[in-house]
Amino acid sequence: MESGPISQIKQLLDQASDLREKLSNADRHQLLGLTDALINELQRPDEAVFRLTFNQPGHYLAIRLAIQWGVFDYLGGVGEPGKTSTQLAGNAGADQRLVARFLRHLAANGTIRETDLDTYTSTRLSSSFRQKFYKDALVFMFDDFYNVGWKVPSFLDSINHRNPADIDNGPFQHANDMPNKSLYTYLNEDAGMGQRFGGMIQMYNAGKPFFWEDGWYPLRDRLVQGGPKSDDEVLLIDIGGGNAGDLGILRKALGPDVKGRLILQELKHIVDSADQDGYEAQIGDWNQAQPVKGARAYMLQHILHDFSSDDACRRILKNIIPAMTPGYSKLLIKELLIPDRNAPWALTSLDVNVMQSLSGQERTEKQFRSLLESVGFKVDGMWGHPDAIDVVIEASLA
Ligand SMILES: C[S@@+](CC[C@H](N)C(=O)[O-])C[C@H]1O[C@@H](n2cnc3c(N)ncnc32)[C@H](O)[C@@H]1O
Repeated sequence: MESGPISQIKQLLDQASDLREKLSNADRHQLLGLTDALINELQRPDEAVFRLTFNQPGHYLAIRLAIQWGVFDYLGGVGEPGKTSTQLAGNAGADQRLVARFLRHLAANGTIRETDLDTYTSTRLSSSFRQKFYKDALVFMFDDFYNVGWKVPSFLDSINHRNPADIDNGPFQHANDMPNKSLYTYLNEDAGMGQRFGGMIQMYNAGKPFFWEDGWYPLRDRLVQGGPKSDDEVLLIDIGGGNAGDLGILRKALGPDVKGRLILQELKHIVDSADQDGYEAQIGDWNQAQPVKGARAYMLQHILHDFSSDDACRRILKNIIPAMTPGYSKLLIKELLIPDRNAPWALTSLDVNVMQSLSGQERTEKQFRSLLESVGFKVDGMWGHPDAIDVVIEASLA
């Protein structure tokens, strides 16, 4: 007979797929937080250290190798018959004894499921890992980024433990012994790495709404109303908007009746590969004065978090201000807002990540308000969404 708590948790586990579908996103996250807290309360310190130092790095290594060996592809979707380590190793062209060791570790962590002696089948998670953007994200963080974390302590020693602020000379450059170049330059020069980075951004956006969707930023009320009356005018410029093609999706969502151009301003390699379906792409540099005057909205999505220095952010904002028409143009910022208290790990981990990659920093609401007010903006509103972790901040010239 199992003890009370064990059977209670097992009952909860049996209901998990139902709960996943039925709970609101906020409740689902609360439940996840509680299960993390339960683990923290139940495990002893030696177990916690063992898990952190042995299990988690080994688990990530096993996932990285399984991607390389085609394990997740070969296991297929949930419900497909299991495969033996001999079959999986044969498919990978690798030693069966080697592959079997990592399969065991994947199963020990629940990434795949052991169905019989030396036989494994996929889980919901491993079957998702067949998608290219998950593979790219997992390989990017392992191959291109893991080493950066190891070198943060020695990097911080080298700058006397100040808050990193130089985008071209941060932990990333220190770890790779490649000074004086931003991560973006490397992504441009190394196409494979650029593509893997893109996969990581896609992973970050997966399952989250677009900022113009219902329940988030009321774009029609705030920008379309009172906005462009002809297609010569500009509705929105996405500065450093990336390569995910969001503007093309926005154009379709707006439909043909909404007037105004959508413009992506980006680095040359992104402009070169942009499909420009429903939007225009032009080479842009936030370090230069904004060339397009009088747009309805100038957008910075995940740009200001690249800079921990408020002065660097002010320089970017001051390059936009002269192009804005007072009383008409708006500034849109889409970023994380770190709460003053009890920040969740999804936000704090991104803060650590932007520090490692770009010497950047996520900000609190108070920090954003004072940054924007310091260059003459007033904040008109902030909009969040229960299924997103970003917030849209709208500001105009005061
Ligand atoms: C952190 S990514 C954000 C991408 C996108 N806005 C998003 O939210 O997913 C920053 C983007 O800025 C672009 N970028 C880097 N330096 C730039 C510059 N000086 N001017 C304009 N874009 C730049 C990069 O190519 C990259 O796509």
